Amino acid sequence: MSREQLLRVLRHLDGRTKISDLSHLVDLDADRLHAIIEPAVTMGLVDDLSTPDARSGLAALSRLEDLLNRLVDELVFRGPFWRAVTERPESLHHNVYYGFGLENWFFLYQETFFDGPLVSHPTSAALRAMLQEFYYEEHRHDDIVLRAFVPLGIGKNDLQRARPLPTTTALINLLSWWSRTDPLFFMATIGILEGRLDVDGAGEDEPVYDSFLEACGRAGVREDFVQPIRAHAKVNASHDHGAVSRELFAEVPGVDRETEQRWHGKAHLFVETYAAFFNGVLDYYSRPDRPLLRPVGIE
Ligand SMILES: [Fe+2]
Ligand SMILES: [Fe+2]
Repeated sequence: MSREQLLRVLRHLDGRTKISDLSHLVDLDADRLHAIIEPAVTMGLVDDLSTPDARSGLAALSRLEDLLNRLVDELVFRGPFWRAVTERPESLHHNVYYGFGLENWFFLYQETFFDGPLVSHPTSAALRAMLQEFYYEEHRHDDIVLRAFVPLGIGKNDLQRARPLPTTTALINLLSWWSRTDPLFFMATIGILEGRLDVDGAGEDEPVYDSFLEACGRAGVREDFVQPIRAHAKVNASHDHGAVSRELFAEVPGVDRETEQRWHGKAHLFVETYAAFFNGVLDYYSRPDRPLLRPVGIE
């Protein structure tokens, strides 16, 4: 085939020419035409002139957030853990508060499993830059929370030899999987994971209001445990990480309807797993005869 013939074929791939007419127009047999067109279609070089059924990134996110927020209210905040913490904090054994801190530490310690893959996000330099900044801001937040366990006689070595609850591991593994296989959906969850527990963003010197911290106060949980947890909440609020998903999605040009539908299905699984993370803390740590740390090792 000559260069001119190939160019003629490419010029006709504008969405207006039928394949059946093309053979005649460019004077090539059907087999040769298919050899040119099929790879071009696969690579997205052929326009079919149809209007894409898609909405802007922010519009798709706001619909998804509606659903996520509704599910979080229903399954997380009306679930056993948060109801107990907000309605009857005095009745909870202090191990529940310590356990919440510990399971949060496991989550933060392994946060690189799901934040890490995004640092090399390939499709957009703008997104990649924002994701890198988020990664650096989150880096080593586990060390802030770690100080809470000093008064309990628990150090980093002890934690590294212990295992999280299965419900904590499930959340970590699910997020790690999505961060690798559906990074945009994972980015949509950041706003929920980072934002919903800070009810008011606090100013420089104001204490950060957080339902858990308030419950600690009402239950008389020791201040040397609470202080590092408060410090971490304050760092989070100062970075305004509750807004990260929106900042990211402002850079997403469009989301097609099928993708949105898939995300809405995943939203249920995400919030169910997130609720199980909290409720798992109440289930396990309510029983004071159970050890705070569950060591991994040969017995
Ligand atoms: Fe953090
Ligand atoms: Fe954060």
